[in-house]
Formats: sequence, C-alpha cells, structure tokens
Amino acid sequence: MRTRIIGTGSCLPEMVVTNDDLSKIMDTSDEWISSRTGIRERRLVKEETTAAMSVTAAERAMKNAGVSPQEIDLIIVGTITGDYVTPSTACEVQAAIGADKAVAFDVNAACSGFMFALHIADAYLKTGIYRTALILGAETLSKIMDWNDRSTCVLFGDGAGAAVVRSDETGLLAYDQGSDGTRGKVLTCQNRKNNNPFVKNPIAFSYTQMDGQEVYKFAVTTVPASIRKVVEAAGLTIEDIDYFALHQANIRIIQSVAKRLKAPEEKFPTSLDHCGNISAASVPILLDEINRKGLLKPGMKIVLSGFGGGLTWGSAVLEW
Ligand code: UT7
Repeated sequence: MRTRIIGTGSCLPEMVVTNDDLSKIMDTSDEWISSRTGIRERRLVKEETTAAMSVTAAERAMKNAGVSPQEIDLIIVGTITGDYVTPSTACEVQAAIGADKAVAFDVNAACSGFMFALHIADAYLKTGIYRTALILGAETLSKIMDWNDRSTCVLFGDGAGAAVVRSDETGLLAYDQGSDGTRGKVLTCQNRKNNNPFVKNPIAFSYTQMDGQEVYKFAVTTVPASIRKVVEAAGLTIEDIDYFALHQANIRIIQSVAKRLKAPEEKFPTSLDHCGNISAASVPILLDEINRKGLLKPGMKIVLSGFGGGLTWGSAVLEW
C-alpha cells in the first residue's frame, strides 16, 4: 500500500501587501523585489492566526477528499510560527475540527515542514498504525520578521496549506529527506523572551536573520540533487515528471533547478508572485492551487520539494 494525497486545501489571510505598499514604508522598490525574487505581493495576517488559517485549510482539504473529521487518525502541522509554544497548532486544529480520535503534533523543519510531515505520515500509514492523516504547513511569518530589515521582510508571507493522505494502491512512490545542522546558522530566528532571574544574560528574542546568498547556493545545489535521487528511486526519469511543485523561495532558484534538471520551466508552477515565501506552507498551498485549477490528473507523476532552515530538505515523487 502507498500513501496517497486524496484532497487538498489552503487559506490565505485577507490583507494584500504589494511591493509598492512596501516601498512606501522602507527603502525598496517593486523593481528590486520582483526582478530578484519574482514576488509581486504577499498576504499578511491582521486578525488571522496560524491555527485559524490551518483550520480553514484543513476543512477545505477534508471537503475536497470527502473525508469526515472522525476518519482522521493523525494530524501533523509543519510550522515554526505556531500561535503558542503549547498547545501545538495540530492540537488546536484537532479541537476545532472535532477530530476526536486523532493524534496531533507539530514538526519544526522550517520550509521543509510539510515535506517532513508527509514523510512521517507515510511511515505511520505504511506500518498500518493509522489509515488517514491530515498534514499541513502553516505560518504567520510576519510575526518573526524584522520589519526594519528590507533584505528579509520583503520576501515572506503568511498562509496555510493542507492535504489529506490515506493508504491506497498508488501514491507516494519515493522519498528523499535530509538535514545539515552544521549550516543552520545561515537562517535563524533566536529563541523567545526569557526573564530567568538566575541567569545573568538570558537569551533575548531576535527576529529572522538570513544569509540569503548562502541559502541560495544551498538550494540550487541540494534541490536538484535531491530531486534526481528521488526520481531515480521511483524508477522514473526527469522527463516522466508532469509537475515539479517546489518550495516558493525565489523564482531564480526555481529557474536554476529547472535548468540543472534539464526540465522545461512550464512544468514548475509557481505561487511566488502573489504569496511570497510562506516557508512550510508554500508547497501545500501551491499543490492546492494546481489541484483546484484541475491540472492534476490520475496517473500523473508529481515531484514535491521543500528546502530551507535547519538546514533541511525533503523531496517526494507521487503518482496522482
Ligand atoms: O525559504 C528559505 C529559503 N530562503 C531562500 O531561499 C532565500 C535565498 N536567497 C535569495 O533569494 C536571495 O539571496 C535574496 C533575494 C535574499 C537576495 O538577493 P541577492 O541577489 O543575493 O541580493 P544581495 O543580498 O546580494 O543584495 C544586493 C543589494 C545589496 O545592496 P549593495 O550592497 O549591493 O549596495 C542590498 O543591500 O540589494 C540590496 N537590497 C535591497 N535593495 C532594495 C537588499 N534587500 C533589498 C530590498 N530592496 N528589499
């Protein structure tokens, strides 16, 4: 049996912030942002929370799958921006949708969070422990951005994406996953407030910091290698793949991966222009967008790939 995605859903916050809006409050321009990244606008939360967007995305995915909350055995949310340290976002989703018998927890793998959640769910489903899982990537990255740092804050957005997975005859064909903690300091968001009176210099919170060029170099080398590996493990060739749904960090990364794989760019759908980079939520939101457009047909071969903080990466080949 294989783990199959049987439904997708997503939720974006209402507020649209364009590059021009940003250029009114900081030293940047639509020209710089769109030419360097492909981003034209992003959605940012006002009242919405990570959990509330997750619940909407989950309900849409369950509706798309034709699955009731009582059928969900497992809920995993990939996130680095849950509303609370505890309870987890997954437990909040469980309560809100009434998935009484589901086991729920979050995974911190930054931009690879959804991919790690998929792989964990696959392990549970393959061993027969659970039959149906709800996996999500959800972020309110606007909470952890330094809005005085134009080199990071213009890149990120908020949102949630979800998928229902179930054991079936086809689905996940192969998986590749990795971590390299030795390079973790190129993308950080340090701790939370600490007023422990017994410690002289308690670590204070600091916003997201990124060495963009190092992350860029990591992405354009690791992602094509991971995709090659997983496609080969599935017994397929790059030409057999119908769509490559990659983490949406930068259009130049996507173009470079396409070039390195010798695959046409038309096979790489994007949501960057209207979403920006939503870390763990990028892949499931993109997957939901192409699913809702009716682009995914049974039998198609789809590559999903996430990469980012940790450093972490994960790629999968699915038969739709
Ligand atoms: O999801 C996690 C994964 N994250 C990523 O994959 C990010 C990967 N990295 C990137 O996408 C790119 O490195 C960036 C888009 C972050 C940056 O692009 P870059 O071509 O590497 O630009 P840079 O950092 O070398 O900056 C070039 C110039 C600098 O000015 P000087 O020193 O040349 O005068 C920056 O100060 O652009 C300046 N700059 C800006 N200018 C206008 C940096 N940010 C901005 C901005 N608006 N928002």
